[in-house]
Amino acid sequence: MKISCRKKTAFNSRKEAIIIPVYKNIETLKTLTGKRIDDEIASIISSDYFNFEDKEIKSFYIEVKKKLKRIFLVSIPKDPEDSRFYLELGARFSKIVRQDRLTSFSIISFEDLYMEKKELSYTKSFIEGLFFGLYKYERYKGKKENFNFEEVEVITAFTRLKKYVDTEAENWNTAFENIYMARDLINTPAMDLTPEIFAGFIKEHESENFSVEVLDDKQIVERGLNLVKTVGMGSANPPRFVTIDYKGDPTTEKHVALVGKGVTFDSGGTNLKPTGSIETMKTDMSGAATVFAVAKLIRDVGMKINVKTYIPLVENTIGGCAYRPGDVLTSAEGKTIEVLNTDAEGRLILADALYTARLTDPEVIVDVATLTGACVVALGSHCAGLFSNRKFLAKNITDISDDLGEDIWELPMLKAYEKRIKSDIADLRNISKQKGEAGSTIAALFLKEFVDNWPWIHLDIAGPAYLEEEHPIFGKHASGFGVRLIYTFLEKYYKEQH
Ligand code: BES
Ligand code: MN
Ligand code: ZN
Repeated sequence: MKISCRKKTAFNSRKEAIIIPVYKNIETLKTLTGKRIDDEIASIISSDYFNFEDKEIKSFYIEVKKKLKRIFLVSIPKDPEDSRFYLELGARFSKIVRQDRLTSFSIISFEDLYMEKKELSYTKSFIEGLFFGLYKYERYKGKKENFNFEEVEVITAFTRLKKYVDTEAENWNTAFENIYMARDLINTPAMDLTPEIFAGFIKEHESENFSVEVLDDKQIVERGLNLVKTVGMGSANPPRFVTIDYKGDPTTEKHVALVGKGVTFDSGGTNLKPTGSIETMKTDMSGAATVFAVAKLIRDVGMKINVKTYIPLVENTIGGCAYRPGDVLTSAEGKTIEVLNTDAEGRLILADALYTARLTDPEVIVDVATLTGACVVALGSHCAGLFSNRKFLAKNITDISDDLGEDIWELPMLKAYEKRIKSDIADLRNISKQKGEAGSTIAALFLKEFVDNWPWIHLDIAGPAYLEEEHPIFGKHASGFGVRLIYTFLEKYYKEQH
């Protein structure tokens, strides 16, 4: 989508429609709209057609230069709200854009309406909400929607905002290209996104400073990634292990590590999932899609940072070749694991990936995974679980999540529960001895065994990765949750640091 920014009045807009934010008792918008439109607004907002309800959007037409122009009034509070408000407003407006097939509009910036213009993020958040709302997944539709939104023009009198939009708009587009890519991958059925196909897709994006190594099933065994191999061995679609090495700052070896759970389908394995739980399990590679999108986005914008990304890809199937409850496996690190439930497969493949990640001394490891149903029970579908072995990391990423409207909540890793994953016959067991207790914490404690006290963040996105009910920002189905969060976190704390 084209995003432009102009210093002019709304009256001179050439777009199909104009969005004008208003709050109660607003005095005049004349300098931004021109007198004609200002007079019209005054009469509309004093009538009972417009009520200043929360995020109310109402439209009317006026004649400008012998043409009818559609004006949307949107109700905002007098004082700035947090970003979530503008994200939701943008997402709400996207529904109108779509329904009425608007291909372009001008918008008077929110910043122009607020006296305290310290923040530049309101209009940006609105545009992000619009992007989220305009996503569609049409791969399997016989009849495509055949509508593409083309342009937003931001109208402002505020030089600092114009500069900001002019320099950043390209990056917003790049961000959403990658968020849409992640959503497409997550929405794709498992038969069309096997480990091999997924790995091949990542490989297609290789470039000079973005090298992609794909290990096939043989090489996975050679490298000792036994947990990846074993979880994948029941499937006719063999596993892959993808490593992406992005070198955005060749002056240093310092880097961050990303790890994403890539179960292309989670049947539960021999501990087969029941009807009601199995239907959405094509989305069990959301963590993999998220970290791939973050890494590619960082490359696409050319961020000065080094990122190594580790993506284990497997299909967890039931069948004659599948692993069994009771099997004892040896991880890449050497620790042995008694498998007591083949449906606790994510932690197994992540264990080998986390171990691999820590071998090159990363500044921080961030893993993302649709890891536990227990996390959905605890936090619902709008919120991801956060675990970290460093207080400051948990705080830093939480602060960012508030600004982005991507909700996360920290859950504890109680030391007292560590013994619950000790096995009688091996080093570890993959599920707790206490059934039904603190499932997300247990999974995180299991991962922690393979992190060896490296600075680490674990995001359990089982809830927000895929939404069965409409979310006010992310809509329905694959959300793209986490891409902006991790991107912004890395940009803020790890860019150009040495
Ligand atoms: N992929 C699931 C977790 C999940 C559940 C993701 C719901 C998205 C929505 C994971 O592999 C799993 O099956 N976890 C088990 C763990 C249990 C066997 C200890 C679970 O949550 O039931
Ligand atoms: Mn599972
Ligand atoms: Zn799973």
